Amino acid sequence: MDWPQKQNSFERIEGVSLIEGNGGMPAVRVSRNELKGEVYLHGGHVTSWKPTHAEEVLFLSGHTNWNSSKAIRGGVPICFPWFGPKDQPGAPQHGFARIREWQLERISEEGGGVLVEVSDRSDEQSRQLWPFDYVLTHRVIFGETLKMELVVRNTGTKPFVFEEAQHSYFQVGKVQEIAIDGLSNRYVLNKIDGKTRKQHGKITFQAETDLVYFDTADNIAIIDLLLKRRITISKTNSKSTVIWNPWSEKARALSDLGDDEWQTMVCVETCNIRNNVVRLAPGESHMMGTEITVASI
Ligand code: BG6
Repeated sequence: MDWPQKQNSFERIEGVSLIEGNGGMPAVRVSRNELKGEVYLHGGHVTSWKPTHAEEVLFLSGHTNWNSSKAIRGGVPICFPWFGPKDQPGAPQHGFARIREWQLERISEEGGGVLVEVSDRSDEQSRQLWPFDYVLTHRVIFGETLKMELVVRNTGTKPFVFEEAQHSYFQVGKVQEIAIDGLSNRYVLNKIDGKTRKQHGKITFQAETDLVYFDTADNIAIIDLLLKRRITISKTNSKSTVIWNPWSEKARALSDLGDDEWQTMVCVETCNIRNNVVRLAPGESHMMGTEITVASI
């Protein structure tokens, strides 16, 4: 993308710049006094959000491969049109949206914050992996809350079914000392042992964790006594939630995650996956949203 040319077509907003980010990748940076935020066009990917009175909320790996064929490790990867592996040659894990180059559509003031809107449209390359026409829009509002709306529109002539996720990575003091509230009494598939059971009480972490919760609409909270904060995640039109931490061994196998970084991250993912896939007829749209707030405890 030619930033200078594009730049002229966007309203100039105080504290917003179009930058050459890591790996020379184009990104939008918001920096207004203590409020910070960043979106990369690679994957339509939010990599940072820091509200005025808190430290950075999102985790970003110091070992990320800033490379157009890889997903950024951390922040909020967008998974679409499938989640997890797909049994098809050349089909990337978690879909292709997180490794495509998105377009910048809009930057504007929005309710005291900054709206950055990016989009991705089907093309010949996407149709080789998934034979449908779509427009994907990610509307991100950086303010004292982080609001993200992912809109999928079926622009083709055939109905389609898809999975999606805002695969958010959160910065925590120490994963072994946090608790996650808001998923009690929900059915959960433990991807480590393949068993489904009912969650009772809060989630705590003692080993590799890869959990898919179904039919979850309530707010979710990360209670972090070390960082003395509570992160609240409120979801719209999302029926599944994934909780993931790779723990030590898996982290060592991931080239884009430092050997100890797993201890200071946790993923709480707003999803529609597996039993909760979404169906769209031609011309229809679906919006899934996440709003994040942080408070001292
Ligand atoms: C989680 C999945 O959402 O993402 C895990 O539930 C997966 O199974 C993890 O390991 C990370 O995936 P990736 O492709 O970003 O390494």
